[in-house]
Amino acid sequence: MVRINDHYLKLKAGYLFPEIGRRVRLFSETHPDAPIIKLGIGDVTEPLPLAAVQAAHEAFEEMSTGQSFKGYGPEQGYDFLREAIRAHDYIGRGVDLELDEIFVSDGSKCDTGNIQEIFHQDCKIAVSDPVYPVYVDTNVMAGRSGEDKDGRYAGITYLDMNAENNFIPSLPKEKVDVIYLCYPNNPTGAMISKEELKKWVDYAKKNNSLILYDVAYRAFITDPELPHSIYEIEGAKDCAIEFNSFSKNAGFTGTRCAYTIVPKALMGKDEKGNGVSLNSLWNRRQTTKFNGVSYPIQKAALACYTMEGKNQIRQLVDYYKDNAQIILAGLRKINFSVYGGEHSPYIWFKTPNELSSWDFFDELLHKVHVVGTPGAGFGACGEGYFRLSAFGQKEQIEEAIERIASQF
Ligand code: MLT
Repeated sequence: MVRINDHYLKLKAGYLFPEIGRRVRLFSETHPDAPIIKLGIGDVTEPLPLAAVQAAHEAFEEMSTGQSFKGYGPEQGYDFLREAIRAHDYIGRGVDLELDEIFVSDGSKCDTGNIQEIFHQDCKIAVSDPVYPVYVDTNVMAGRSGEDKDGRYAGITYLDMNAENNFIPSLPKEKVDVIYLCYPNNPTGAMISKEELKKWVDYAKKNNSLILYDVAYRAFITDPELPHSIYEIEGAKDCAIEFNSFSKNAGFTGTRCAYTIVPKALMGKDEKGNGVSLNSLWNRRQTTKFNGVSYPIQKAALACYTMEGKNQIRQLVDYYKDNAQIILAGLRKINFSVYGGEHSPYIWFKTPNELSSWDFFDELLHKVHVVGTPGAGFGACGEGYFRLSAFGQKEQIEEAIERIASQF
């Protein structure tokens, strides 16, 4: 028998969303006629923007003739897409980047999960609690977490988030090497101001820490003054890697395209203390383990930046934002304590009657056939909270909220 990676045994039983899926399947088997509405995982429901679909079709046509056929593309992404990302997502926000600081990939889940490979085993990791589970689990797999003690890994620094601190954690008390931040926040839907974000950049610079900043939900930011990229904060290029995705704005969850920014100014150090470029390490990692996103999908992503594509994306995002408002209004009407939903597709709320997150999950599923995500699945501080996703069809969202209101 092959010897396994023992660190996997430290993981909680299953990844959160498959575990929810398992419970829902069990329920469906015994209640095949129950009209289940799924507002659990943040997966989009509306069709791709037409501009992206047309571009992908055209790209496949190109692949059908010998002259324009393409095999392996650059592992870092085609320049046409990197240029569009640079121009539309960064220059427009006052941030300049070099093309080879942009790495196109097939998802922010993969990139936020894989990035830890380039850090030393002993790096001290800090995550918010609650948190997107990928950040924690991938460090557990890598052997960086220590043992699980009462639901928290001994080797990870947890930064509590709650209603009192507006779901923005306090700076770590001890020195940490790598800090994962996500704003608009998954799961709480909270957003951070430039002033608050600056405190993190200042901390990172002072402590030689690295911030891993996830902006997968930035299309949902309503206020243009709020930071859409960490690089809008002075000094962030010296201390932050940023992740963004086409999943939640352009509906690419099943299509797969994302990108990661690794500024060339970012340095790590080797065992002798010599500086090593993180951009070079990530490039080395990607060129070894990744063969790039397919040409048609990168063309589809490029089309998202045309006028037509931008308008179609705006309509998609507005659609989900309207759903978020329906959820917020509906839950407020029944006096739930609700958070998020303004700059985010996620609505986070306290469970009624002091129910635990999973007990509320079961009640919701069994009594009104609505699926959400138990806050406890995102960490100890999520206990007693629950998340609903605004990614869904409007009629279903309205129906789900009516059902919840009829029961609680
Ligand atoms: C979620 O929290 O629902 C996840 O973000 C889904 C994902 O991995 O994108």
